[in-house]
Amino acid sequence: MCSMKNILVSIVLINILQLETYLCANLNSKIIMEDAQEKYKFLITAGYRPKIDNLAKYVVSLRGKKYRRVFGDDHYCGGSIISPKVILTAAHCVCRGDNRIELRPFRPSDILAVAGTPRRLVVTEKTQALKVDKVICHAYFDPKTFHNDIALLLLIKNIYEDGVSAQRISLQTSSLPPHTKCTVLGWGRIFEYGPKPDLILHTNVYIMPNEFCKERDDDFFFGMMCATDEDDFEKDSCFGDSGGPLICNGSVAGIVSFGNGCGVPDEAGYYTNVSSYRDWIRKNGLDKLRPVNFILLIVLQICITES
Ligand SMILES: *[C@@H]1O[C@H](CO)[C@@H](O)[C@H](O)[C@H]1NC(C)=O
Ligand SMILES: *[C@@H]1O[C@H](CO)[C@@H](O)[C@H](O)[C@H]1NC(C)=O
Repeated sequence: MCSMKNILVSIVLINILQLETYLCANLNSKIIMEDAQEKYKFLITAGYRPKIDNLAKYVVSLRGKKYRRVFGDDHYCGGSIISPKVILTAAHCVCRGDNRIELRPFRPSDILAVAGTPRRLVVTEKTQALKVDKVICHAYFDPKTFHNDIALLLLIKNIYEDGVSAQRISLQTSSLPPHTKCTVLGWGRIFEYGPKPDLILHTNVYIMPNEFCKERDDDFFFGMMCATDEDDFEKDSCFGDSGGPLICNGSVAGIVSFGNGCGVPDEAGYYTNVSSYRDWIRKNGLDKLRPVNFILLIVLQICITES
């Protein structure tokens, strides 16, 4: 007979495992407390900081394995949490090679994903520094044209999701009409060649019709989209925002991919269209790793076999 106790015990175990993940993520990361607030208080041009930031919890900062002088000074790209073990990012952030044949992922041990805080340079009690187990590059990513600029990071340990500082975001599945208002956020440069902020910045842009994108980029291709604000072209993503999310209607619809400079008049920012890669994401990331469900399934299996 299947006992309720078995199921309860397994749920408790799962929670302990997740808590352990969280605590270890905090303890293992050899990071120093450094309040760099004074040094890095930047003003911004076309970005803003909402009073209550409901979106930063979805974003991670990608870094090297060791910062240079200050925690977070090696931030180079963003990413989105799409499951406790999977980060969605741009291929050009984590995959290199001059052409498709030479394309190879970065070594997982060279990447650190930092979740849980809107501050880039400060370690808070919510900071989670996560090691990467596997880098999955889209097999047809082309570094010259940025076609298929999408990749996944599979983490060694689960992100601890508290719903406030770290949380997974759903994938946009419906087709968004042109002029849909979206938000892009990250720690990228606040103007071209400018500095990177400590506190994450947001800006609102609108999805542009494909014709608009095509006219401005000869390589515009399936799986890309572009976004800007025609009333204020300065609103844009910039270097260091790559890999981070374009969030529309509460889901991640785009991945920051490239642009012709940052905030250039009559130009747009280009994004990987998440909707176009739904199946690729599921097949290569989301469907592969379901440890929590596995434990529950095993317990249920035992219960069913026993009864
Ligand atoms: C926006 O999200 C709501 C609720 O999640 C959904 O009902 C609606 O269809 C979405 N709109 C678009 C354009 O995707
Ligand atoms: C994104 O891709 C989906 C699925 O291929 C498509 O329906 C949608 O129109 C695309 N979005 C844009 C803005 O091109």
